[in-house]
Amino acid sequence: MNIVFIGAGYVGGPTITVMASKCPEIQFTCVDINQDRINAWNSKELPIYEPGLDDLVKKNRNKNLFFSTNVEEAVKNGDIIFVSVNTPTKTFGKGAGYAANLEYWEKTARMILDVSTSNKIIVEKSTLPVKTADAMARILNSDKAKYHFDILSNPEFLAEGTAINDLLHPDRVLIGSFENENGIKARQKLVELYQNWVPKEKILTTNIWSSELSKLTANAFLAQRISSINAISALCEETDANIEEVSKAIGMDTRIGNKFLKASVGFGGSCFKKDILNLAYLSRHYGLTEVADYWESVVNINEYQKERLVDRMLNNMFRTLSGKKICILGFAFKANTSDTRESPAISITKKLLEERAEISISDPKAIENAKKDLADLEGKISFTEDPYEASKGAHSLLILTEWDIYKDLDYQKIYDHMEKPAFLFDGRSIIDRQKCYDIGFNVFTIGTSSLKHFD
Ligand code: UDX
Ligand code: UDX
Repeated sequence: MNIVFIGAGYVGGPTITVMASKCPEIQFTCVDINQDRINAWNSKELPIYEPGLDDLVKKNRNKNLFFSTNVEEAVKNGDIIFVSVNTPTKTFGKGAGYAANLEYWEKTARMILDVSTSNKIIVEKSTLPVKTADAMARILNSDKAKYHFDILSNPEFLAEGTAINDLLHPDRVLIGSFENENGIKARQKLVELYQNWVPKEKILTTNIWSSELSKLTANAFLAQRISSINAISALCEETDANIEEVSKAIGMDTRIGNKFLKASVGFGGSCFKKDILNLAYLSRHYGLTEVADYWESVVNINEYQKERLVDRMLNNMFRTLSGKKICILGFAFKANTSDTRESPAISITKKLLEERAEISISDPKAIENAKKDLADLEGKISFTEDPYEASKGAHSLLILTEWDIYKDLDYQKIYDHMEKPAFLFDGRSIIDRQKCYDIGFNVFTIGTSSLKHFD
């Protein structure tokens, strides 16, 4: 059997690698239109940083795992085609800013139709609006089609930074199909593929619309928890409540559970915002205004959380940041990834530049992406991997990613070479507040009252 992935990104690359490692009898080919990306997948320096990925790629590459730009050839020979191309938010026309841009998906479907010389199973891996499979089925099984195409929805739930573990030990694998004879047969083939390493009881089969909607819903629920705890963090900062204590107290209620309750500077990543806006757009399309408003408020709170942090800096740093050096520790949207898509650090850097601050950025893995994200901005920005170098002469530290290394920095050493009074804003609540205060910092963590050496 030949399995093909179209789209060698953060989803396609790790997913095919884990599948290849678990199914040695099957040949896997990952194709992408981006030559540089494919070259990187075939080199020592993979295009994405993901713990555990390097080793797995090295073990399987050029055995039963291939990376190529020869999209048409691979698709022609494929029996199962997973499509994991990007589905960004539309930036033009109807639904701009909300709806998913399905351009790449549709082009891919038409290409599959054109090059195929056998029946195939087409699997939606990309997150797509509900009912996309309908459109795909119509394109693929049009009058022009000489062969039969079964469409399945098999959304990916991996989180970056823990992708390999999530793929090896998923909470569940979800497979949706049309509920006719062909659909159920195709679904069974995918179930068998996953059974190579996933216990049977964790493989869930549903109708295709439930599967598509479950992916959007899962991301919306996860993001909603973060916005909920972040909303409470604002209240904690005004009172003497501590968000860590509140999170712990509510998380011990088994009905609530303790995961995804970490207050932060806001969620980032390529999925949450995009998927919620997409859900809101769909709801509006069906006339469900209240439902759309409800989900959109999750994104609004996330924007508010970022603005609040910059306001807190301004209010406490004597109402001006102009000419002051702010050292940002962490640019990735979360720890253990080089990914900066929708990272809170991007919009916060923009806001700080608007205040005419001088920005020094440090990150162990995301500097290259940060440079691209900020390329068009005017203002003073420098990039330095070493946090000690980056913080020299800074007026304030601003922690935006919860990298482990930032927990154990020598804050005394950093304090000594900063301007005074020295400020520390911790957007991830990872530092020892009291210790940093005792060193001399004025300390501000998300969801706790400030520790200041002056009124
Ligand atoms: C993307 C989407 O963001 C996510 O919603 C979906 O679930 C999976 O695809 P990700 O893998 O993180 O996630 O995206 P990205 O890293 O941008 O990878 C997509 C790849 O598809 C890119 O390498 C791009 O070059 C490739 N692509 C895109 C094609 O090969 N053909 C196309 O027509 C369009
Ligand atoms: C998410 C989903 O978790 C995953 O199932 C889906 O397939 C893709 O989208 P990802 O975006 O990679 O994965 O990372 P995730 O761990 O969910 O974190 C998203 C953002 O939320 C990050 O910016 C993270 O820092 C933030 N976050 C997460 C919090 O602020 N608090 C938390 O408690 C958890």
